[in-house]
Amino acid sequence: MNIFTQHNPTKLYFGKGQISQLSTEVRQMKVLLVYGGGSIKQNGVYEDVINELKKVEATIFKLPGVEPNPRLTTVYRGVEICKSEGIDILLAVGGGSVIDCTKAIAIGAKYDGDVWELITRKAPIESALPIGTVLTLAATGSEMNPISVISNWETKDKLGWGSPLVFPRFSILDPTYTFSVSHKQTVYGIVDSMSHALESYFHRTKNTPLIDAFIESLLRTAIQTAPKLLEDLTSYDHRETMMYLSTIAFNETLLNGTDGGDWGSHRIEHALSAVYDIPHGGGLAILFPNWLEHVLEEDPSRVKMLAMNVFGISDEGKSDIEVAKEGAKALRAFWNSLGAPSRLSDYDIDDRDIELIIDKTFIKPGVGLYKELDRESVRDILIRSM
Ligand code: NZQ
Ligand code: ZN
Repeated sequence: MNIFTQHNPTKLYFGKGQISQLSTEVRQMKVLLVYGGGSIKQNGVYEDVINELKKVEATIFKLPGVEPNPRLTTVYRGVEICKSEGIDILLAVGGGSVIDCTKAIAIGAKYDGDVWELITRKAPIESALPIGTVLTLAATGSEMNPISVISNWETKDKLGWGSPLVFPRFSILDPTYTFSVSHKQTVYGIVDSMSHALESYFHRTKNTPLIDAFIESLLRTAIQTAPKLLEDLTSYDHRETMMYLSTIAFNETLLNGTDGGDWGSHRIEHALSAVYDIPHGGGLAILFPNWLEHVLEEDPSRVKMLAMNVFGISDEGKSDIEVAKEGAKALRAFWNSLGAPSRLSDYDIDDRDIELIIDKTFIKPGVGLYKELDRESVRDILIRSM
């Protein structure tokens, strides 16, 4: 293992009814409530949040309409409200997009210049407003990590950034709040959280038996739970399992002591959804199995490990490459069985913009660690995905 420091300051309130803790975290303050396109008004979450805030006589300001793949223009709207109203705390109520947008507002509110300068690292992030979250969709892990992904629709850039200053101070995770997530969106969430575990698995650090086994067990749990959840979207037990799983999959636990894994597929997916505005989990379902097939040709070792330890594939009488190929096939087949897309053509994407997607993938230098990708490799993965 490598040396590491772990410090995750987010306080988690997990389970049914935990919204009652909101009034212990928020006092008589100016709160900016950030939310999306209206799902929280249909499923009762909005009402629960407002009732809690009223209990402590908080002054409520609102920023509705955060888009999936949240946009810089919405971040600007939020920053403006924070500055003009003197907001004390931000409360994100929604999925990863709402939380990510809130994180960007939190740093923009404390900065005199354009928040895009912070996101693009042209200026250092020195301060942020505090954030709390009420999660309504199990997928990204944003509720317990310091990361955010913002799209600049004008320049067609989708950029991941992070700062310890934007770890949520608290996050409330009530699985019943995810009952209303659609079948399709639930599949995207499952694929995204599994991808976070998978990308953490593809590291090159020696002597990591516990982390590897931890990731394998998380993946096996997702494989066992996902079909049952999709049969019964309002099962508390299965929603609870997936909600906890998706938080752990990307709250840095799975990176302890390793080189950080390989996030090449995420980089390509962010480029893809910057250009086409497709759902993140949908893009990953297409790209990741093709990334696996691309890397196993050079080094099948960890793909083989995945095949055997997660999918139970036997290596008897087979070469390493054969076992690894069966593993990549098994992952694709599993996601397809859930109803995830498998080809870019499912989103009407052809090779027309392939050079632009490759350019956007390299918007920051260094793509991939288990296998560093060059333009040719990214092109190969995209062509396999068509
Ligand atoms: O807008 P609303 O009305 O809230 O509807 C949303 C949206 O349409 C809906 N939804 C959320 N909770 C619901 C619900 N519908 C019914 N019932 C509920 N309880 O679901 C749709 C998608 O929501 P979104 O927040 O976009 O999904 P997700 O959580 O998957 O977030 C995706 C974004 O996060 C980024 C992605 O790139 C993408 O921009 N990521 C963020 C990461 C992070 N911060 O750590 C890591 C990830 O790898 C990812 O890149
Ligand atoms: Zn992701």
